[in-house]
This record gives sequence, C-alpha cells and structure tokens, in this order.
Amino acid sequence: MKRHLLSAADLTRDDAELVLRTAEELRSLADRPIKKLPALRGRTVVNLFFEDSTRTRISFEAAAKRLSADVINFAAKGSSLSKGESLKDTALTLEAMGADAVVVRHSASGAPHRLANSGWVRSSVVNAGDGTHEHPTQALLDAFTMWRHLAPQSGGSLDGRRVAIVGDVLHSRVARSNALLLRTLGAEVTLVAPPTLFPVGIESWPVETSYDLDSVLPKADVVMMLRVQRERMHGGFFPTAREYSRRYGLDGRRMATLQDHTIVMHPGPMVRGMEITADVADSDRSVIVEQVTNGVAVRMAVLYLLLGGSQPAVSTEGLPE
Ligand code: NCD
Repeated sequence: MKRHLLSAADLTRDDAELVLRTAEELRSLADRPIKKLPALRGRTVVNLFFEDSTRTRISFEAAAKRLSADVINFAAKGSSLSKGESLKDTALTLEAMGADAVVVRHSASGAPHRLANSGWVRSSVVNAGDGTHEHPTQALLDAFTMWRHLAPQSGGSLDGRRVAIVGDVLHSRVARSNALLLRTLGAEVTLVAPPTLFPVGIESWPVETSYDLDSVLPKADVVMMLRVQRERMHGGFFPTAREYSRRYGLDGRRMATLQDHTIVMHPGPMVRGMEITADVADSDRSVIVEQVTNGVAVRMAVLYLLLGGSQPAVSTEGLPE
C-alpha cells in the first residue's frame, strides 16, 4: 500500500483485497469480550475534522482505540481554526505533536492531498471525505459489506456483480470513491440520478448511467441510496422533494421488484421519507447498520496497514477466546 490513502484510485486490486481480508480478521474481534489489540501501541492517530460527522469520526476513533493507538480528536469548532488558523499552521502543530496518522475531513475537495503532498507533515494522511470529491474508507467499508454478502456465492469476489448507486451523484464523494473501487474489484456500477444531479465529465467515469430507476432495480445485486446533500446545493436541482422521492426514492413498491438476494445500502445519514422510506431502511434487505459495524473493522485494517503492520493484525496470544 502507498503511505497515504487519499483516493480509492490509490488502491490496486491486491491492496483492496488485502484491506478486505485484514478487515475480516479484525471483525471477529468485535465479538470478543476484550476488543483491543496491541498492534498500534505507542502510535498517535489524529482525527482532524473540519466538517460535521457522526459515523466517520466515531468509527475512526473506535478503530484507532481498538488497536491501542493514542487518539487525539480535533474538531474545527472550538479550536483555533475558528480563529482563522490556516491548514498549514494546523499541520505544523500536528507534526510537532508527533502524529503518525492524520485522518482528515474537509469541505474543500483536495485538502487531504494538500496536507499529504506539501511536506508539512511526515505522517500518513487518510482522506475521511473531502468536499464532493472522495471518501475512500467509505468505499472500502461498502465493498467489504458487499463482499461479505455476495462473494461467497460468486467464487470469493465481486466480479460481475451489479451495483446501482442512486441519487445525488453530483455532490457525493461516496459515489465517486465507490465507482472507482468497485471497478477495481471487478463489479459493474450503474449510477442513477436525474440529469441535473450528474457531474460534468461523468462520461469518463468507469460506470453506466441511467435516469430510470425502475429499469435498473430488477438487475441489481446491490442498491446503494445516496442522501440529497442540501447543504451543498445552491439552487433548484429538482422541482420538489415529493417529486424527487416519486422518481428516485426507494419505497416498498420498488423494493418488491428486487431479486431475492439483493441488498440495500446507505452510507448515512439517511433522510427517511426522501431517498428511502422507513419500511425499506428497516427491512431484512437493509444492511445499513451492518455498514457501520463493518466501518470500524475496515478502518482498523486501513490504519494498521498504513502504519506499517507487517505481522498478522490479529494474534490470539494472551487474548481470551
Ligand atoms: C457521507 C459523507 O459524509 O460523505 N456520509 C458518511 O461519511 N457516512 C454521505 C453523506 O453525508 O450523505
């Protein structure tokens, strides 16, 4: 693996499969009474969040702590960042504190790349979501969830599996990272959105596109719903919320057209009643809560592999069975 994880495109198929296999080993830890491993003892992980987050920040914190790293949480609110301190000065502070890994979320696309490539810090940089650009650990946890459900029936891989990603593709870093990673893992991605919610240059993405959700659903092995990111919208991208739900929302009627094995995913936070109805979100097909559990194992794997883990991550020595 490279030193940083900035884009899903940084991962070769071998890298991605190594993360999935390591996450699988680490996931078993969640079922043990003592959930901690000594793998990153003495290392420091800084969570640097310039943008709001619930799942991702808590998930990285739990992941680092379960590997026995020291964790420093640094939120923009309540820090000198709100006094106008620059990314550079923040980076120099982190460097002075001896951070080994910096997990960064920022509203500006490219901020993690700036941090990694500026020479300001020596640590590994992990992109935890930058603007509308990328969110590679979300893509890894999504792929891990799909792999656990679908790979056992298809020779241990996602080759040829069909994934529909539906909704606000334009503002979604989750969609971009998933499209890149799933392509690397051999799956076929179809993005479904109204014409106004596809980004410019979508032709160069390794995906199919469609405006018609009803024609895509019966063929999909996975349906991933995206939140409409109102906080990034300045203008009308669709007539009304009701109209959006009618054409692009997943409800019980549409769910009934899915194949028996098809799973429903959502990265969270969900807007119930908008892109997904409550009955679908809470149905047996929904793996949305499992995505959160898997996120911790995947982030443990990423931190462990980036910080140079060469021994098996899980040693059974000294741990109660
Ligand atoms: C996503 C994000 O922040 O990009 N959520 C997440 O990380 N779990 C998607 C979203 O905000 O809709």
